[in-house]
Amino acid sequence: MRPLERWFLARWRADTLGHLPVDSRILEVGAGTGLNFRFYPHGAHGVASELSCEMLKIASDKAKPDGLELVQSDAELLPFKDASFEAAFATLVFCSVPSPATAFAELRRVVTPGGTIVFLEHVRPPGILGPVFDLLSFFTTRVFADHFNRRTADCVRASGLKVLKVDQRFLGIFNLIVCSV
Ligand SMILES: C[S@@+](CC[C@H](N)C(=O)[O-])C[C@H]1O[C@@H](n2cnc3c(N)ncnc32)[C@H](O)[C@@H]1O
Repeated sequence: MRPLERWFLARWRADTLGHLPVDSRILEVGAGTGLNFRFYPHGAHGVASELSCEMLKIASDKAKPDGLELVQSDAELLPFKDASFEAAFATLVFCSVPSPATAFAELRRVVTPGGTIVFLEHVRPPGILGPVFDLLSFFTTRVFADHFNRRTADCVRASGLKVLKVDQRFLGIFNLIVCSV
């Protein structure tokens, strides 16, 4: 992933977290090895959650904002009270979560009404590339449990979150989706 980080991903991470409010309690879902930690807004605190203990162990060695706790949890069953965060985000996560709809419902529950939720995801692109990604996904789901043809923005909308903006990038293969609860 390192060349992709240098080429565009690091910049897109910064764009994604740039939509989050400063000085707020934030939930990150699927934090992985903590590649987003350096882009958290000023005064951010809260929880970076992740399913894999191995990923969390690597993340725990990274510099992170003060007051950011690492918690092992499944995006589909978040161990937090209703409205316990002012904002939430995820980057490159909902291609591998088994039921994105369940996870979006959980995010809607744990983020306070009016709060911001941002996603940076690879999705099924529009046009001729769509069927190509359907075919690709046939293999990637079997080999890496990674879906290359998810219509994530539609699924976010169907979950009842208000989609404020869908910024299509790289031929629409990536979407930066900004929502409010
Ligand atoms: C491609 S990695 C992205 C990691 C990180 N967000 C980043 O941008 O570098 C996908 C991450 O989602 C996590 N993940 C997959 N399914 C999950 C679930 N159901 N709940 C929470 N995290 C999950 C994986 O363990 C993995 O760390």
